[in-house]
Amino acid sequence: MVQKATKMARLSVDGEDSVFELPVYSGTEGQDVINVGSLTSKGYFTYDPGFVSTAACDSEITYIDGDKGILLHRGYPIEQLAEQSNYLELCYLLLNEELPSSAQQAEFVDTIKHHTMVHEQLVHFFRGFRRDAHPMAIMCGVTGALSAFYHDSLDIDNAEHRRITAHRLIAKMPTLAAMSYKYATGQPFIFPRNDLDYAENFLHMMFATPCEDYKVNPVIAKAMDKIFLLHADHEQNASTSTVRLAGSTGANPFACIAAGIAALWGPSHGGANEAVLTMLDEIGDVKNIDKFVAKAKDPDDDFRLMGFGHRVYKNYDPRAKVMQQTCHEVLAELGVEDSPTLKMAQRLEQIALEDEYFVKRRLYPNVDFYSGIILKAIGIPVEMFTVMFATGRTPGWIAHWNEMIGAPYKIGRPRQLYKGHSARDYVPVGKR
Ligand code: ACO
Repeated sequence: MVQKATKMARLSVDGEDSVFELPVYSGTEGQDVINVGSLTSKGYFTYDPGFVSTAACDSEITYIDGDKGILLHRGYPIEQLAEQSNYLELCYLLLNEELPSSAQQAEFVDTIKHHTMVHEQLVHFFRGFRRDAHPMAIMCGVTGALSAFYHDSLDIDNAEHRRITAHRLIAKMPTLAAMSYKYATGQPFIFPRNDLDYAENFLHMMFATPCEDYKVNPVIAKAMDKIFLLHADHEQNASTSTVRLAGSTGANPFACIAAGIAALWGPSHGGANEAVLTMLDEIGDVKNIDKFVAKAKDPDDDFRLMGFGHRVYKNYDPRAKVMQQTCHEVLAELGVEDSPTLKMAQRLEQIALEDEYFVKRRLYPNVDFYSGIILKAIGIPVEMFTVMFATGRTPGWIAHWNEMIGAPYKIGRPRQLYKGHSARDYVPVGKR
């Protein structure tokens, strides 16, 4: 994309003799960026481990102001979307820039419903996994395997092919997620039902059996839809950046999403909701909380309070606020509001909001803190939590991939500060 500099930055290395003029660009919101691309020709790279100050792309999809706790998708605040919209409408918005008309919405929902089944051959992939495999391992494998199926739409330079791929992914992800759960429990796979909406259908595929239908509770279905919606996109996070990086080589989109799933799996990213519940189990009782908080604050102890802190939000994560409210709705509906888990969670939140250690470092509860409690109450096993996140995040991943592929792009290729040996001569094994 052609950029217009709004001002110039001057970088001086070792005195005025080498001063570099670097163009500064402004977006519609957020920090300005300094284009450092010309530094390579001047003999320098920039150094930014963890990409904490690096904008790797232009994007028009999602904006976050971490200091103010703002999250906008295509300009719409997440609170309004959570209150008034629904997951599939947000998927449409992320992919298409504008909210759909009612006709466009109906067509989109219908299209997604008619792509929910997976190829029968894919079932054999499941059979190759051990029954005790982690469902995220299965999701990496089977989503990557989708790349071997859809030969009718593999031209990534064709916008219509990219659109069909996006629809397939959004439609099939809940089916694959539910299949990975059914496989682990030894129950038969349950086919999708097109008379149900997205979240209802997912719950049906998870909890129905051939012997017994599953009556979907509307409060639970609404909460599930909200969990998907709140996870739908989060700009250039680790997994989305992974999808972009993999996609920048021109790789198959299903394989790129599998790479995103792999990146999401880690406990510092999407694995945190699972880690929250594991931590609450480990704490065991409200009376042990102070001990664990002390561990989290101890610089010599690696233990961290899972579900607290965020690379970008240095304020309350706006998604966590919605999630907290949904959590109360679900627990009230299920009559488990007094659960020890929720009591521990509330006490931890209170401590984090008051304790100087957390306040000073601006460590607020993040979206994973409450989502884990809701998912557990719904009956989703802990190992499936990150799979829920992956399912919800799919439209974000594919929207970013599509945005990148639909415009001129470069292969992603970071540089390094090399600290290894300088050139040295090989010594044959007998002479070492
Ligand atoms: N518990 C205790 N201390 C913490 C925590 C925590 N959860 N998070 C950060 N800190 C402390 C660090 O020890 C560090 O302290 P110091 O300045 O005294 O050394 C300071 O706060 C800054 O921490 P960083 O690791 O530099 O912050 P960063 O932005 O790199 O990390 C991260 C963000 C990875 C999310 C971190 O806060 C964390 O590990 N949280 C727990 C895991 C978690 O909940 N992840 C989910 C993220 S949200 C998502 O993916 C949807």
